[in-house]
Amino acid sequence: MKKNKKDLLSIYDLTPDLIWTLITNAIKLKKSKKSSSKLSGKTLGLIFEKPSTRTMVSFATAMTQEGGTPLILDSQKLQTNRGESIYDTSKVLSRYLDAIVIRAFKHEHVEEFANASSIPVINGLTDLEHPCQILADLMTIVEKYKIKSVKQLSKLKIAFVGDANNVANSWLAVSAVLGLNFLLLGSKKYPPTKEFLNKALDIAKKTNAKIIVSDDINNIINADVIYTDVWTSMGEESQSKARHKAFLPYQVNDELLKKANKNCIVLHCLPAVRGEEITASVMSKQENNIFDQAENRLHIQKSIIVYLLNK
Ligand code: CP
Ligand code: NVA
Repeated sequence: MKKNKKDLLSIYDLTPDLIWTLITNAIKLKKSKKSSSKLSGKTLGLIFEKPSTRTMVSFATAMTQEGGTPLILDSQKLQTNRGESIYDTSKVLSRYLDAIVIRAFKHEHVEEFANASSIPVINGLTDLEHPCQILADLMTIVEKYKIKSVKQLSKLKIAFVGDANNVANSWLAVSAVLGLNFLLLGSKKYPPTKEFLNKALDIAKKTNAKIIVSDDINNIINADVIYTDVWTSMGEESQSKARHKAFLPYQVNDELLKKANKNCIVLHCLPAVRGEEITASVMSKQENNIFDQAENRLHIQKSIIVYLLNK
């Protein structure tokens, strides 16, 4: 984080207290259901190098409901597409906008943008992390289990089943920072990067987080939350056949759920591929949880932009 502005590029930009405040404020905003003029006169830019439904629409709606203006920018139509540097683009957009959400292929490009910018930069998903998603996920778990503190949250067993991707990375990071009980269950062929995992494990030692990375399905026993995401993330389409083969044993289906706690909830960041990482049957039984989770993207985005822009 910089002296005069705050960014949200990674879960590691946040302290446990701040994560808890962002969640509890989002819950308050959800209950109040009121529009406000807190961000009146402010403009939030949104640049997407990859497709998005939830992140784009929830941030744009959050900004509108808080009295500000969202500006969705098609990355194909910006001069960066013709080779203008990230540095120059960041400097110029900082003169017009009050904050910016960026979804990019490369995490280091978002960091480069943030280093040059004088306005808050928010990671709307990169190859490395998806921090805003994980804040909405935590908010959903807090609501569903009526959690009152981080300590109480740490008593739940949360299992991410599938690919060790950007979403899984942010889960590893948040589990380390908050001291959670977290299982990353998936194929040995697609492990988390050593660097990212080691950072989480180092922090976990200080916070007493219990982080287990395993390919043994039996570890799902006693899970309170089962979370999954696509096996093939955006940009990896050429690997989809090999990934399908490797992850098939880790499909979230009725058999897997039988091994978890009776009242275990299933979450999915969406979009979902029914028949791959999750069956249509589990999707249909768990859709209240999953669509509540999607709705919570809106409330948490409000909480994030009000925090970043209103100080
Ligand atoms: N979960 C999520 O980020 O969805 P979108 O790709 O639709 O934004
Ligand atoms: N891991 C997925 C998340 C989509 C929201 C992807 O990067 O495509």
